[in-house]
Amino acid sequence: MSTKEEVLSILQSNTSNFISGQELANMLYVTRASVWKAIKSLQADGYQIDAVTNKGYRLSPTFDPINIEDISQKINTSDRQIKVIYLDEVDSTNDHVRRLEGESHEDILLIAGCQTKGRGRRGRDFFSPKNTGLYMSLLLHTNSDTNNIPHITATTASAVAKAIDHVIFHDKDISKIKWVNDIYINKYKISGILTEAFSYMEDEDSSYIIIGIGINIFVPDNGFPKELKKIAGAIISDTKTSKDTNLENIRGRLSSRIINNIFYYKENQIECLEIYRNKSNLIGNYVQINDFKENHHKNYGKVVGIDNEYRLIIENDNGNRQALSSGEVSVVKY
Ligand code: BTN
Repeated sequence: MSTKEEVLSILQSNTSNFISGQELANMLYVTRASVWKAIKSLQADGYQIDAVTNKGYRLSPTFDPINIEDISQKINTSDRQIKVIYLDEVDSTNDHVRRLEGESHEDILLIAGCQTKGRGRRGRDFFSPKNTGLYMSLLLHTNSDTNNIPHITATTASAVAKAIDHVIFHDKDISKIKWVNDIYINKYKISGILTEAFSYMEDEDSSYIIIGIGINIFVPDNGFPKELKKIAGAIISDTKTSKDTNLENIRGRLSSRIINNIFYYKENQIECLEIYRNKSNLIGNYVQINDFKENHHKNYGKVVGIDNEYRLIIENDNGNRQALSSGEVSVVKY
């Protein structure tokens, strides 16, 4: 083995500790300068190695290289060829994939290491720091008939929730869906979905959709920003989950599973609806409706179900029911 390979192997088996340059040099019977050269070369290869003065080196514990060939192979969408692209940093994967579409007109899955301008619904930001989450956008060409955004969004929520249960929790029913498309674990939002549709100016019948998915896998080094602390969480937020989980290629395994689930549930809507209803963390709860169309006017009621169009059925105190197709609700004490 070369010094570089030996340094990598030592760092890989000690991800929880820093090892000083001198220690590495002693272990390998080489000079500190050759250790330094090996570290630089590994960093140039894309390995994320933390280097801290007076402590030494450590392979970042959340380091998870993306293997686009592996993801391409695992995605099985018989009738479509999806081009998989990985970039370390973009503004927003939804915005960037749209620019890429302008160049190639292909179906694309774009995954990014971080986003500098990650976007959420209703003009909110989506916090997307480096090496802690999966940030991706799937761009699919459709025709305007197949462009049913509420269905696509809800289908994606079922697909993401089931993929998380499968990849992280050994198929246990852990993740919950908050209508319309937020994924929760233990009362914290760990994932959001932003679906957008576009048509071509010159041909309004052909169009494409972009399904943007953000998942907080790890808690960021300095925690979530103050304004998100009460709401946001990460899938792996305790040592038990971290010990029980195979962290290797976690973003790769999650992304391919999500894409396959989206295509599967798209064709199996009855199953998808059942998952969506069973995973709902709203059914049976009393909620406040923030109906943005009605000037922030607030209504209250009990969620009694979700209909076949993924609308939330809410019953008010007079027994009147309404089906909500968009908006946001929050659980309140009754
Ligand atoms: C929300 O919770 O309101 C939706 C969040 C969607 C975030 C994802 S991250 C990947 C994609 N790119 C974006 O800019 N947003 C979506």
